[in-house]
Order: sequence, then structure tokens, then C-alpha cells
Amino acid sequence: MQTVMVTGGAGFIGSALIRHLITHDTCRIINVDCLTYAGHTATLQDIDQDPRYQLEQVDIRDRPALDRLFSTWQPDIVVHLAAESHVDRSIDGPAVFIDTNIVGVFNLLEAARHWYEGLEGESRERFRFHHVSTDEVFGDLSPDAAPFSETSSYAPSSPYAASKASADHLVRAWQRTYGLPTLITNCSNNYGPWHFPEKLIPLVILNAIQGRAIPVYGEGHQIRDWLFVEDHARALHRVMHEGVIGSSYNIGGHEERRNIDVVTTICDVLERLEVPHPEGVTRFHDLITHVADRPGHDRRYAIDASHIERELGWRPQESFESGIEKTVRWFLNHGDWCQGVENADTRQRQGLGATA
Ligand SMILES: NC(=O)c1ccc[n+]([C@@H]2O[C@H](COP(=O)([O-])OP(=O)(O)OC[C@H]3O[C@@H](n4cnc5c(N)ncnc54)[C@H](O)[C@@H]3O)[C@@H](O)[C@H]2O)c1
Repeated sequence: MQTVMVTGGAGFIGSALIRHLITHDTCRIINVDCLTYAGHTATLQDIDQDPRYQLEQVDIRDRPALDRLFSTWQPDIVVHLAAESHVDRSIDGPAVFIDTNIVGVFNLLEAARHWYEGLEGESRERFRFHHVSTDEVFGDLSPDAAPFSETSSYAPSSPYAASKASADHLVRAWQRTYGLPTLITNCSNNYGPWHFPEKLIPLVILNAIQGRAIPVYGEGHQIRDWLFVEDHARALHRVMHEGVIGSSYNIGGHEERRNIDVVTTICDVLERLEVPHPEGVTRFHDLITHVADRPGHDRRYAIDASHIERELGWRPQESFESGIEKTVRWFLNHGDWCQGVENADTRQRQGLGATA
């Protein structure tokens, strides 16, 4: 049985990957997650009793703890997702983004290198370090420019994107200099179940059903490519087993949308599903409120995913229309989870410690 160490597995994408691996792989899964405001054990409640799953509550900034994990669990594959991931938070307080997304990645690379250098034979052949990154490293794309490919220049705009870009460079250097067998994936915006409520799509759904204003930055003309999170999990699974060492793969949904169109689509779905209007609201669309734009806001991201499609035969299965309806239905049915993670976030901000 192979052992896959997933970092950040209590977060949005990491938990989707773990659920996918439990059903579609035979591996043992070690989830390395220090449970920040964005990580919740409740997110994995459907699989956490599986004997193939184990949580290790460890911070990737803690090098001795990482060394202990490598020698205890002897992973064949590391899939690294742990990160500070919210652009707005990186603008308000960039320090933790540098610590986790750069220094943490350095620690993990060093722990992995130390472990890899001691391997021999088949276990050395099998070992992979798969780093999960974002399309935001490529920066701002003009409306008529070709989508990002794997050879696009790095030009990150936000502290978040710059920290992820730095991490990508470290991973490449560890492959080139030390021969660590690495893989990098750069993915577009994910959406789907278990998405932390501070991000655009869950925020819009939850604000709408609670009758709160739906904030849209500027005119909402920024364009993003949207990928259903379970399609991303399938892509990561494919790359970690079949990706060519030293390669990077762009992953996208072929679903470019303006933010304002995403927001109105969600309102349309809520109307179509006949979700009761909150008191004083006649149409969900009336809650849309334009607010001052985010500083340095990129206008457009778009992904050319032809490399992974050609080389590994992966394609997204979900359209934006089908995925967004599934997502809205999921949030309508999981109010307890949303309330739990929001309460835990408030408690952490007040220094009271997380409860979810
Ligand atoms: N969400 C997206 O749309 C998207 C798109 C492309 C790439 N990514 C990348 O995918 C990865 C996962 O994103 P997500 O949206 O699931 O993030 P998330 O914020 O939902 O989850 C991050 C997880 O990492 C954990 N974590 C944070 N700091 C840690 C540390 N120092 N040590 C151990 N664990 C720590 C958190 O507890 C949480 O469980 C990130 O690397 C992100 O940059 C995300």
C-alpha cells in the first residue's frame, strides 16, 4: 500500500483530494494540517474513521516535526496544499503568507530532500513531491490575450500570488539542484462543497439567503476561470501518479466568467430553486452591492490546460452551470457546517481557539 502525505487536507481542496483518494485509490493518507482558521476536522467527518486515514496536526513551519512525520509514515508521495490562501487577507497581513507559503515550503522541501536522499531502489523510484499552486502566479491578463500556458512568465500581483510564485521557484530549484522528483500544478479558481465562506461563491450564497448585502468589487468585470473542486481532485490524482518528473501542468475548467456574471448566476439559481426570500427582499439580485475595488486587482486569469489534457488525458467533467447548481444545493443543505466554521473563525480572531 502506498502512503500519500497530503498537507492542508483539512482545507477546501485538500479535503476534496482526500475524499477522492479514499474512494478511487488504495493508498494510506496522512493529512498534515495545523488547522488554521481555514482548516476544520468537520470537513472530513465523512471519512475520518477510515483506517486508511490519519490526521497529523503539525505546522509545516516546524521542521523537526516534519522530519518526525517523514520517518514515522515513510511517504511515497507528498501532495502539498497547505497554504494561506485568501488574497484579501494577504493584503491586510502579508507576514503569515511569507512564513507559511515560502518558509513553510522551504522546510517541507528540505524535510523531503533529507528523506529522499536516504531512499534506495523502488521506494526511491516511487517518491514524488507534488506542489499545488495557482494561476495567480502569472499575474494580470488583458481581455484579448492568450490564456496562461506552462511557459507564461511569472508576474504575481498580490502578496498571496507572490508567495505562491516564490514557492514554485523553490520547488523548481530543488528539482534542478538536488534532483528531488517534483511536480507542480497551477490551477484556476476552484468552487464547490466545503468551500470556506470567506471566498466569493460561498459568500454570495450565504449572504443572499441570510438577506445580507452581496459585495462585488468595483464593476465586477474581473474575469476568472472556474473549476469544480472535484475535477481538480481528479487532476491532482492523475498528476501525482502519472505526471512527468520536473513538469508543471496548468489545470482549468474552460469556464471564464466575469465576477458579476458569477454573482447573478447564483442569484438566478436561488430564484429557480425557489429558495425563500429573506424578510424585506423581493429578488436576491437586489442584494448586489458594488464596493471599492481591491488594490492591485487583476483583471483576468485564463488557463490553457492543453498540456494535461494531451499528456495525461484529463478533462473537466463539470460545466459551470451544473457545478454551480450542485454547489448552491450543497450550501443550502449544510448550514450547520457553515455556521461551525464561521464561529470557529470568530473565536480564533478573538484568541479563544477553534472549535470546529
Ligand atoms: N482555492 C482555489 O481556488 C485555489 C486555486 C488554485 C490553487 N490553490 C492552492 O491550493 C491549495 C489549497 O487551497 P484551498 O483553497 O484548499 O486552501 P484553504 O485555505 O481552504 O486550506 C488551506 C489548509 O492549509 C492548512 N494550513 C495553513 N497553514 C498551514 C501550516 N503552516 N501548516 C499546516 N497546515 C496549514 C489550513 O489549516 C487549511 O486546512 C493552496 O496551496 C492554494 O494556494 C487554491
